[in-house]
Amino acid sequence: MITAGIEALGVAVPGTYLDLSDLAQARGVPVAKFHEGLGVREMSVALASEDTVTLAARAARMALKDVDPHEIGLCIVGTETAVDHSKPVASFVQGLLGLPQHCRIYETKHACYGGTAGVMTALDWIRAGSHKGRKALVICADIARYPLGSPGEPTQGAGAVALLLSESPSLIALGPAVGTCSRDVNDFWRPLYKKSAIVDGQYSLSCYLEALQGAYLAWQVESGGLKPFRSDAFAAMVYHVPFPKMAKKAHWALRDFDGDRDPEVSYRWQVEHGLNFPQRVGNLYTASLYLSLASVLATDLRPLDGAQVGLFSYGSGSCAEFFTGIVTRGAQAKVKALQLDKMLDARRRISFAEYERTLAQAEGADAAPAKREAAGHPYTFLGVEADRRVYARP
Ligand code: CAA
Repeated sequence: MITAGIEALGVAVPGTYLDLSDLAQARGVPVAKFHEGLGVREMSVALASEDTVTLAARAARMALKDVDPHEIGLCIVGTETAVDHSKPVASFVQGLLGLPQHCRIYETKHACYGGTAGVMTALDWIRAGSHKGRKALVICADIARYPLGSPGEPTQGAGAVALLLSESPSLIALGPAVGTCSRDVNDFWRPLYKKSAIVDGQYSLSCYLEALQGAYLAWQVESGGLKPFRSDAFAAMVYHVPFPKMAKKAHWALRDFDGDRDPEVSYRWQVEHGLNFPQRVGNLYTASLYLSLASVLATDLRPLDGAQVGLFSYGSGSCAEFFTGIVTRGAQAKVKALQLDKMLDARRRISFAEYERTLAQAEGADAAPAKREAAGHPYTFLGVEADRRVYARP
């Protein structure tokens, strides 16, 4: 079978963030609830000039920095915060990045699982030989939004992770065994007429944990093991991170399932490195799992060459998958060289008042007339002209 996996990755976050201590103060909530209770410290806030397209394009530009766009034969954007009911985010990205005409381009949606759906399709495309030597670009991009003042508000965020998938996986070779678990549930959704998500908070947590158990069991069967398997065989466990405490709850559930009565020990070395970036950015929906993977590769100081990692993707509604990867020699140095920590450090902290103003502006941005202003970031959403979205590019 053809080896397939992640050759390169790119990350984009808005240049602005809200410190959760400012949100806690404004909402009259003890800050410990956000810091310790949810495990989140900062959340990315997208300005009205940024949308899912600009974040996706920026992440893809980073992932493609050493690649000729003409090598891309498949481009999928996984998102649950698309900008049009018909035209896919992937087509806008094609225009902004100059992807070739012979490239297959589309968007996938299944809540936070939508990006993984694209990854699985791209892996099958490569393994089946349909790629004919070309590479796939899968971009996970979202702006997570809940009603102001709701329990979900501190778990917002915005950003994108782009993955270049190929038969030369110089970051992670992904294993062929995948455990799937899907169910029709109403844990989290966003009706067509709403900008922010509706969530049955505590129920969504139990749906996530049940799906984890189902997908993990299915993966064990798929990977041919009737012999007992313990998840501490993985050097790192990377979970979908709607908020960091959820990954902790997931790890507890997984290790409990394995019969481990003291999961705190493995949590420290298997999970914590993967939460360094998510706790500074918030929920990126489709991209959260892959930001956590980038966080492991960028911040875990142990040499991980040849190590196996476990990955768990969850999308409400629901579909979940458990799969694995082997870290390629030199992958950590490549991801460290992206200086993602410096990118986070360089963001501007906004006040609570600016956060409220920004969200109010974003509310009407999809229909606002295009303004030809100087762009503050590489790709800028300028507004709408004759019902067409207008973007500035570098
Ligand atoms: N000091 C320290 N900790 C405190 C505290 C304080 N003063 N006050 C509360 N806490 C702790 C609580 O004990 C709790 O921790 P545990 O769960 O470990 O017991 C934690 O803070 C949160 O408190 P609550 O459960 O009371 O919080 P809440 O009900 O107000 O909201 C939430 C929590 C339901 C997760 C809410 O933020 C939410 O709805 N978020 C969006 C939904 C979500 O992310 N679901 C995840 C699964 S679905 C999914 O993964 C898809 C997706 O991306 C959305």
